[in-house]
Amino acid sequence: MLTGKSRGILLLFLAHGFILTKEGEPLNKYVIRGGKPLKGQIDISGAKNAAVAMIPAAILVDGVCRIENIPQISDAVIQLSILKSLGADVRAVTEHTMDIDCTGITSAVADLDLMQKLRASYYLIGALLGKFGEATVAMPGGCNFGGVRPIDQHIKGFTAMGAEVEVKNGLVIAKAEGGKLRGANIYLDVVSVGATINLMLAAVLARGRTVIENAAREPHIVDVANFLNSMGADIRGAGTNVIKIRGVERLSGGFYSIIPDQIEAGTYMAAVAGTGGELLIKNVIPKHLNCISSKLEEMGVEVIEGEDCVLVRRRGPLRRANLKTQPYPGFPTDMQPQMTTVLALARGTSHVTEGVWDNRYKYVDELAKMGAAIRVDGRTAIVDGVDHLTGAHIKAWDLRAGAAMVIAGLCADGVTEIEGIEYIERGYENLIEKLTAVGADIKFVEETEPEDRVKKAV
Ligand code: EPZ
Repeated sequence: MLTGKSRGILLLFLAHGFILTKEGEPLNKYVIRGGKPLKGQIDISGAKNAAVAMIPAAILVDGVCRIENIPQISDAVIQLSILKSLGADVRAVTEHTMDIDCTGITSAVADLDLMQKLRASYYLIGALLGKFGEATVAMPGGCNFGGVRPIDQHIKGFTAMGAEVEVKNGLVIAKAEGGKLRGANIYLDVVSVGATINLMLAAVLARGRTVIENAAREPHIVDVANFLNSMGADIRGAGTNVIKIRGVERLSGGFYSIIPDQIEAGTYMAAVAGTGGELLIKNVIPKHLNCISSKLEEMGVEVIEGEDCVLVRRRGPLRRANLKTQPYPGFPTDMQPQMTTVLALARGTSHVTEGVWDNRYKYVDELAKMGAAIRVDGRTAIVDGVDHLTGAHIKAWDLRAGAAMVIAGLCADGVTEIEGIEYIERGYENLIEKLTAVGADIKFVEETEPEDRVKKAV
């Protein structure tokens, strides 16, 4: 039986080849009656940022990849649509398991409209270049934090591996010299998740050995490396800052299950910290949540780790804290808006510093409409805690800003209406259902007919 809107969207896609449209437009909204403590259990879905890399990684594999624990979110749907548009055979086995067979792909030119819908479409460059020695893709789209999101480190790596890369009229056109990439030593000038994964994808079938230095270490990087290794790749050191890849002749099909989503779990941890109450957050890897747990404890929230779950409880007042986002194992930038929102309700003044992106504070103006007292000075937000937030009509500017708006609405007195929820649906599976089950009053309000939100792919 279909329950949950995102599941509906995914199954619709699988059955009929539909895709989301009018992405980012505020057609629909969430309406939240806040002030209710959360209580109960929430199951965490598969990691978005692993799934959006693993789906294109299947291009490198000869044979069928069975990927389990794929979250039912629009970013995963779009990646699957891109593979389908290239000629891959994509079949649903269960609601979270897909069989992907890319042996039918003959073109290295990806669907440009689809690619512009998400940032992670840049993984098509590494995968197509690694497999076919060439790739023509659109410059990636995705969440707009208000700053620049360059891919120069990806391009620098592909170039070192013998590719000629041209960026022209919104396209990235890459061609490997002699039709095949060669291994290279690559030092990343910035610690980049996307560049690390993309260069791993490009290197697994390249001639010889590739070394990526100053690599990012996020859990999803290890997960993508494990996926590729399980299909026959030779990648060592993922999870450290030096990754060594020995190119192999071919990868062959197999099974793999995606890790739980660190940020989805962190978001619900932050939500219960804000509202008060008690949540058992299940199907997590507690080690991946360490920095979030520690910060919440500093703020007066109780966090008890189980083997694959965390219990998060807040009974007393929230205390102020400072935090700075950094690449893993530092505090994740993708939790910054949610934590800033909770700190807006803590006693005292907190300083939040964004250490990854130039600008990720666009959402602060929305919180101000609800009574938050936050001043942004460059990369730092100075948060003066207030007693309460008041419901308002606000907007999600990107995925994590959207998650922060939901938390604000859950904590606020009165009714909050959130527009721009398409962003939130990029990364949170069944958010409404999960929150409703733990006592939140949150509703999806459709302003148009459901049919208006999807269109035939081609
Ligand atoms: C990934 O983006 C995530 N997206 C982001 O999550 C996350 O915020 C980010 O990593 C940091 O953790 C996906 O995995 C799909 P980066 P990515 O390359 O790979 C600079 C979410 O909410 N940089 O690690 O694009 C860049 O400007 C999303 O789930 C360069 O200068 O991020 C930034 O300051 C949003 N040149 C820093 O590095 C490059 O070539 C880190 O970016 C690449 C990046």
